[in-house]
Amino acid sequence: MKKLMLIVLCVCVVSLVYAEEPRYVGVKECKICHKKLVEKWERTAHAKAFERIEIKNAVKEPDCLRCHVTAFNAGGYKMDDPNASKFEAVQCEACHGPGSQHIKIAKESDTEKSGDKALGLVTPSVVTCKKECHKKAHFRIFTYEEYWPLIEHKREKTIK
Ligand code: HEC
Ligand code: HEC
Ligand code: HEC
Repeated sequence: MKKLMLIVLCVCVVSLVYAEEPRYVGVKECKICHKKLVEKWERTAHAKAFERIEIKNAVKEPDCLRCHVTAFNAGGYKMDDPNASKFEAVQCEACHGPGSQHIKIAKESDTEKSGDKALGLVTPSVVTCKKECHKKAHFRIFTYEEYWPLIEHKREKTIK
């Protein structure tokens, strides 16, 4: 009987975790575990995307923000929101999706489970780059072959 209760309890906890909507949390949270990846990202143009529109005095322009911040009006950057600064520039979550649930599971178990797509992370590809961002006139011509090496990164074997 006890065993059965325990199983029921486990199932409940797991389904609760999965039921919770994944939220955007901002790159600072990713740095706690993916320190090297974040430091690498900090040296890329994506990390400077907000500065680019600052120098053009365009940080109040929705039509600039939609590509120069993370998850604009979609759970991330929102103009005049007290949390807006957390989501400046093109962060991890702009490509990988909202990370709150991934972090929660990673903190609990530190296993492969944290990468489960049901938790909100997505696997980005060339479609991600072109769909919303690298597609309009003020950019150079985008090819994945030419651009991926500029931000190339992969899984770390040991995280910490
Ligand atoms: C509590 C620690 C922790 C935090 C915080 C964390 N991660 Fe992770 N992450 C992991 C672990 C552990 C793995 C699996 C091991 C690996 O990939 O090296 C992982 C893997 C990933 C993967 C690969 C998933 C896959 O299997 O396809 C992505 C993408 C990722 N994290 C993105 C993020 C993003 C974005 C953030 C910030 C929103 C973040 N992580 C914050 C621990 C964390
Ligand atoms: C459809 C997405 C998108 C929109 C909308 C957008 N940008 Fe960009 N912007 C980009 C991308 C992608 C790059 C990187 C271009 C490259 O290196 O190929 C970029 C680069 C830049 C740069 C640095 C390179 C350069 O050309 O000087 C500036 C400055 C900039 N954008 C300003 C703006 C301003 C101001 C607006 C609003 C009027 C805006 N962007 C709207 C996607 C966008
Ligand atoms: C501009 C989009 C973009 C940004 C920003 C970005 N990534 Fe990625 N990331 C990708 C792409 C594309 C891949 C390659 C996916 C593939 O081919 O498996 C990738 C791969 C990864 C992988 C390896 C996944 C695997 O299954 O092996 C991890 C881990 C990861 N990213 C974490 C991060 C973290 C942490 C950040 C922020 C510091 C970040 N990424 C920022 C696009 C991005």
